[in-house]
Amino acid sequence: MQPPLRTVHTAEALAFLRSGPLPEGAAILTSLPDASELRSWPFAKWQAWFVEAAEQVVRATPPQSAAIFYQTDVKRDGTWLDKSYLVQQGAYAAGAHLLWHKIVCRAPAGRATFARPGYAHLLCFSRDRLDTVEAATPDVLPELGAMTWPRAIGLHAAHAAVLWLRDQVQARCIVDPFCGVGTTLAVANYHGLPAIGVELAPGRAQKARELSL
Ligand SMILES: C[S@@+](CC[C@H](N)C(=O)[O-])C[C@H]1O[C@@H](n2cnc3c(N)ncnc32)[C@H](O)[C@@H]1O
Repeated sequence: MQPPLRTVHTAEALAFLRSGPLPEGAAILTSLPDASELRSWPFAKWQAWFVEAAEQVVRATPPQSAAIFYQTDVKRDGTWLDKSYLVQQGAYAAGAHLLWHKIVCRAPAGRATFARPGYAHLLCFSRDRLDTVEAATPDVLPELGAMTWPRAIGLHAAHAAVLWLRDQVQARCIVDPFCGVGTTLAVANYHGLPAIGVELAPGRAQKARELSL
């Protein structure tokens, strides 16, 4: 029997990931929530949670597969918070290797930006899958693409990540444990892959069930 093209759980992501293994052939594409989405928490608590969440996402990824994170840094109280560094702490704690680190331009090169930098990170990790390193794909994505809402992954970045997972690790299902309104799920479906999303906010989870490109 064919798996459903899209399943969205209204649930807490880390509890979902702990509840059992992901389907065979699953790969992860996700964006962990920014501190501004968890405003009731002290900043240090969010930062520790973020690293722990990255670790759990990587641990939940099947060994021969990969997990891709799309994250945008923030400039905060005069300092620069590098989420690539935080994700890498979690991923290395899970025993993973960084397969690649791409930069996605959010603003044209040469333009100054405020509050958020002019680029986002796309980071890909795997615990066992090292045979993709030779399969070079562009390291700088010149455009983010359209965004379905202000916290969304840009569509160009989502297409590039899903195609990489499909073609380089032969992913047969895309999982986004922090799926928001379902951009990554819709992109996975667009490329013929079933998708599983998890989202805490019921309204966003409902949108994620319905989003089409
Ligand atoms: C950066 S947004 C993801 C955006 C998504 N990539 C999109 O394009 O719509 C992070 C999402 O994680 C959700 N979230 C925050 N904490 C969560 C948790 N513990 N479990 C599940 N979802 C959570 C937020 O409600 C938010 O929608």
